[in-house]
Amino acid sequence: MDLKDQINLENIPRHVAIIMDGNGRWARQRGKDRNFGHEHGVEAVRETVKAAADLGVEYLTFFAFSTENWERPKVEVDSLMELLVRAIRNETPELNENGVRLQAIGDLEALPKKCRQELKEAMAMTAHNSKLTVMVALSYSSRWEILEATKKIAGKISSGELKPEEIDSLVLENHMETAGIPDPDLLIRTSGELRISNFLLWQIAYAELYFPKVLWPDFRKKHFYEAIIEFQKRERRFGRIPQPQF
Ligand code: IPE
Ligand code: IPE
Ligand code: MG
Repeated sequence: MDLKDQINLENIPRHVAIIMDGNGRWARQRGKDRNFGHEHGVEAVRETVKAAADLGVEYLTFFAFSTENWERPKVEVDSLMELLVRAIRNETPELNENGVRLQAIGDLEALPKKCRQELKEAMAMTAHNSKLTVMVALSYSSRWEILEATKKIAGKISSGELKPEEIDSLVLENHMETAGIPDPDLLIRTSGELRISNFLLWQIAYAELYFPKVLWPDFRKKHFYEAIIEFQKRERRFGRIPQPQF
């Protein structure tokens, strides 16, 4: 049976978050520099977006660049930023045709101006779309996001707009980059690394975690389907007891 036919369309995760990892190792295996791997990661993104849209996933978040990734050599960071501009420019028309809305989370002010501009245009062009929301996390880290939210809330407390006792999960969530977006149901990290690396720490509280060994540039629809099939085998209990009760 085709992999896709094994998927129960009644139980598709609403939000899938992906830590795209392994580009450098993929390039090294081929005797090339790290940027060769990043370039080949774009095809994996394209395939994943198509597979997710086709299955009816509503939100797809890609971790593309962390706040810590600024510490990489300048030549790699510069190439990544240029690749980002090129990828957004080349992919946005097709995303738009397929009903995809593009959004970005992270410290966008830290990005080169050209990147910010390209992103802004792509987000404006796709803002009316509603089939699938693709969120790209850029210069993002979860601790940065939580600190920023804390500062915004503290500002409202000191101005009297908010009372301390009014702070609840929803208030905090509404001050995060992901305000209004449901939490990820499934988190995929490629390349076999078993860590979260400062990604959506608050939001993945009850996500199902999946760590395939495939390096990101090799990730294809088949791997996405395998992730969904694995997700559908999991029993999500959210701290309750399994059904039926006894
Ligand atoms: C992920 O691949 C892409 C980014 C973090 C930008 P890596 O560049 O981390 O590749 P590995 O982990 O070194 O193989
Ligand atoms: C996480 O991957 C960040 C992105 C995929 C953008 P890293 O490769 O930067 O994470 P570590 O260093 O292995 O934890
Ligand atoms: Mg890595």
